Amino acid sequence: MSAVNLQTSVAGVALSSYLMNASGPKCTTAEELNIIGHSQAAAIVTKSCTFEARQGNPEPRYRDLPLGSIQSMGLPNLGYQAYLDMVPSLKAMGKPVVISISGFSIAENRTMVTAFQQSDADLLEVNFSCPNIPGKPQIAYDFEQTEAALSQLCQLGDKPIGIKLAPYFDMSHFESMAAIIKRYPVKFITCVNSIGNTLVIDPETESPVIKPKGGYGGLCGDYIKPIGLANVRAFRQLLGDDMGIIGVGGIKTGSDAFEYLLAGADAVQIATCFEKEGPSCFQRIEQELSDFMAKKGYQQLSDAKGKLKAL
Ligand code: SIN
Repeated sequence: MSAVNLQTSVAGVALSSYLMNASGPKCTTAEELNIIGHSQAAAIVTKSCTFEARQGNPEPRYRDLPLGSIQSMGLPNLGYQAYLDMVPSLKAMGKPVVISISGFSIAENRTMVTAFQQSDADLLEVNFSCPNIPGKPQIAYDFEQTEAALSQLCQLGDKPIGIKLAPYFDMSHFESMAAIIKRYPVKFITCVNSIGNTLVIDPETESPVIKPKGGYGGLCGDYIKPIGLANVRAFRQLLGDDMGIIGVGGIKTGSDAFEYLLAGADAVQIATCFEKEGPSCFQRIEQELSDFMAKKGYQQLSDAKGKLKAL
């Protein structure tokens, strides 16, 4: 039991603590989702589903790195119908269910969002930012496509729709994306996906460390924490307090989670640390966050949320 009250909410959905898994590692099969359901994670987030089941990219497609990982999984998943069928058993584990959806066209996303709108899932996170599908650019870097998609996906039902964004690196991009988001009833954003199309080379073998796309893959873990923090902070400032914001990128300790809280995140997702450490990471990080905040005299998340101090 935490000394500090870590209860939070995203888009009106109550969460028993600040941490959940990210749509990424170990959340593809019913067995993996069952493990998350029995962990301390505050929600169950599914692997991004596509219209049809996918094997994903050729292996090797994941490599641990000293400060994180590089991966080009290529959205291996069971196909959306399997996750739709799983919703009742996931809900039976007693925590919110977040469905990640990653269609290859607006029409596919419409079909999948419509189907999950009629399910008992709690939040729908539409992934606009997978960098790993050959020939499919990340929608989140194409502002016209983003707007076209949002104009069709936000009115398909009452469940909160959110989008998983790519990392942005320029203030003008934060502003352009925030202006688009404000025009639609987007209820939450998840920032950030991996930094796409990075290249890690093994000088011994003189080759990339992963196979797909000639070695280009999404960089994750500690390397991207400052980028995740900047994206959460910028969008919090541009979108205001009512926007649900889930932070992701390089969280492996309670103080990492606390930094995301200061930047303004309502909750955080854990990817690489969950991949490397397994489900015990949720309880450990939650305890560390609670201890860290208690030492500072905080009693609840709102005492520090978004309250990054100016130098
Ligand atoms: C993948 O399956 O390639 C990673 C998912 C993502 O980057 O959204």
